[in-house]
Amino acid sequence: MHVRAIALVLTACFATSAYAVTKVLQMPADSEQLRASPLPGYAKAQANCVACHSAEYMLYQPPTAPRAYWAAMVKRMKAVFKAPIADADMPVIVDYLVKTYGNEQSK
Ligand code: HEC
Repeated sequence: MHVRAIALVLTACFATSAYAVTKVLQMPADSEQLRASPLPGYAKAQANCVACHSAEYMLYQPPTAPRAYWAAMVKRMKAVFKAPIADADMPVIVDYLVKTYGNEQSK
């Protein structure tokens, strides 16, 4: 009697958390694309920076963030999360990021 009640509660918990995870994963899918740019880093960022998360992550960074901040970010993606970014592409991507989302924006 008792055991059965506990099993039911557990089932309910799992069902709820599975639903929550599904929602979170669906949200950023293609809601936000990288901002188009004539800079060469645009294509490289498309190839290297939106495989794991949406471009929304760039929008949440401060627009006052300087080049060094973006360089550290790209390095962190590679070192911590094992993003397969070629070293030669890193400065090109950083250039695009700081001019598109950071403190070197022209507008
Ligand atoms: C291998 C997967 C992967 C790739 C590729 C990747 N990231 Fe990330 N990124 C992550 C993870 C994991 C997080 C942390 C997510 C979280 O905390 O919710 C993250 C977080 C971020 C954040 C949020 C700020 C922070 O520090 O958590 C930014 C900005 C970001 N990434 C930018 C980039 C850029 C720019 C690139 C391309 C150079 C990139 N990412 C490529 C996995 C990746």
